[in-house]
Amino acid sequence: MCGIIAYIGNKECKNILIEGLKRLEYRGYDSAGIGILYTGKGGTKGGVNTDNEIYHIAVVKNAGKIRALENELRSVEVDGFCGIGHTRWATHGEPTKVNAHPHLDCSSKIAVVHNGIIENYAEIREELRAKGHKFVSQTDTEVLPHLLEEYYNGDLLIAMQKLMKRIKGSGAIVAISTYNPDEIIGARIASPLVIGVSRNGNFLASDMPAALEHTRNFIVINDYETARVTRSGVEIFDHEGKIIDREPFKVSWSIASAEKAGYEDFMLKEIFEQPYGIKETMRGRVVNGKLNFNELGLSEKQIRDLKRVQIIACGTSYHAALIGRQLIERWAKIPVEVDVSSEYRYRDPIVEDNCLFIAITQSGETIDTLAAIREAKAKGARIVSITNVVGSTVARESDSVIYTHAGPEIGVCATKTFTAQVIVMYLMALYFGMIRGYISGDGYKSIVQELEFVPNKVQNILNRADEIKSIADRTYKYTCFLFLGRLYGLPVALEGALKLKEISYIHAEGYAAGEMKHGPIALTDRQTVVVAITPKDSVYEKMLSNVQEVKARKATVFTLATEGDTSIQKYADYVFYLPKTLEELYGILAIIPLQLYAYYIAKNLGRNVDQPRNLAKSVTVE
Ligand code: G6P
Repeated sequence: MCGIIAYIGNKECKNILIEGLKRLEYRGYDSAGIGILYTGKGGTKGGVNTDNEIYHIAVVKNAGKIRALENELRSVEVDGFCGIGHTRWATHGEPTKVNAHPHLDCSSKIAVVHNGIIENYAEIREELRAKGHKFVSQTDTEVLPHLLEEYYNGDLLIAMQKLMKRIKGSGAIVAISTYNPDEIIGARIASPLVIGVSRNGNFLASDMPAALEHTRNFIVINDYETARVTRSGVEIFDHEGKIIDREPFKVSWSIASAEKAGYEDFMLKEIFEQPYGIKETMRGRVVNGKLNFNELGLSEKQIRDLKRVQIIACGTSYHAALIGRQLIERWAKIPVEVDVSSEYRYRDPIVEDNCLFIAITQSGETIDTLAAIREAKAKGARIVSITNVVGSTVARESDSVIYTHAGPEIGVCATKTFTAQVIVMYLMALYFGMIRGYISGDGYKSIVQELEFVPNKVQNILNRADEIKSIADRTYKYTCFLFLGRLYGLPVALEGALKLKEISYIHAEGYAAGEMKHGPIALTDRQTVVVAITPKDSVYEKMLSNVQEVKARKATVFTLATEGDTSIQKYADYVFYLPKTLEELYGILAIIPLQLYAYYIAKNLGRNVDQPRNLAKSVTVE
């Protein structure tokens, strides 16, 4: 939820930290701050810190976005070669300047940034207060520098290792001190933290894009590990303090993929990147018309023996899971259950033999999904995860990982990661269906062929973004939106409504069209826009009846129909045409206009689409 960046090296760090924070701002954006080690006597010698006696930590922070921090920094001249930065998503204590990170110990010799929640902070704070420590903020984080101060005995790393044994909760913690200005100490319990390694220095960050401008070589820190990062080296220690040997891995993401590249917002850029993300996700998995899914790590016998599939996910990923359920049941004839992660973990789930457990998460860090995986694993489940982030916690804790290759997604609202997840569900369901013998050779061939057309069909829709914009321009003032769908259209309706409410703050509901008469139809009046997913599929006639019902109640109707379906025009105020495809594949096409629709409505309302209020890109607290 919060974002951390830290740097130590031969370059001045203020700008590196600010640029890193901007790339992390999607993780939290209610306040931000940086802490820089500097020498009171005007700088270090050639970038080498020599005299630790004269070091101080300059802490500059502000409530609001990074821009507010930059304003604050205008009057600050100090810079240095080692520093930490933080962008916050408040959990304990309001988003004020004083609650922003970094936090300091009593003597201002230790500065800490933290992402997570210290569950036993109240008890620790009382204990430290009794010993004379003074607290200035309402945050849980502030106990950390004071604990380090208490435990410090010549080595900040050892103090951090003691601290890790004392705290309960979750956290990525990064600290610097004037005691040893040539090191940054990092630690992690259940919140992401990676080390970026470069020739000009080393980084600690919540997420790789923060350091992507400087390096593509990363090392992941695991739970209960600590790290000492210096300008020229990295040491990682396990929970007992023993040194671990871990080599960096290289990511293929480019810095350009983490920038707006001329688009007004990340969200718009990411919507337009979908043909590429879909193609990349198919690459290597569809070869000469054949599917290759070795990465699943399941033998054909294991696939044939599957009795059940359990999928868990949150938010948008949950909607990809709902699509997955329909496809796996239809093509592979395996019963599928889908749960939101936060419910699954608490309902004492039953894990039987021959049940495959699939976790879908773009970030690979959602705490509820992680907890659900751990619950299922403890009960003996085999875990396959679908994620977009190489080396993420979910990826590391799964038995096998299917990576989506959508590239980094910066907009808080998931778009290209969703369509990449859906493509994986299509491929996996088809693969299972083929191995289990429920899909004939011809059937299989024609589905694969259609899948290969998907990127072009998505491009065709994107080329007509202006049509969606003009519908949005005419409907953005409405106050109630109902998204209706049946069968493959239902998850799309749910996702379309989620997009709209996330970024426009308009009340929107996604609903099974057949359930309209059991409630939502009471909402329908002149102030309502009904968005109906009405491709020419097996439930088309039923959807048409629902459309007529809402039209009769004076709702404004916007439908997504199949090209050539002119008859629908007499029931709808607005129609957007989808290219023809198989009925199972309409979902991935229909979501594109709905992402654009939400985007243009939100823009009309002047919303910040990349950083909607109260939301965060990866939810690492419960
Ligand atoms: C947050 C994001 C959503 C995302 C959800 C699940 O709420 O804002 O866009 O769908 O988390 O995230 P995951 O990383 O597990 O897919």
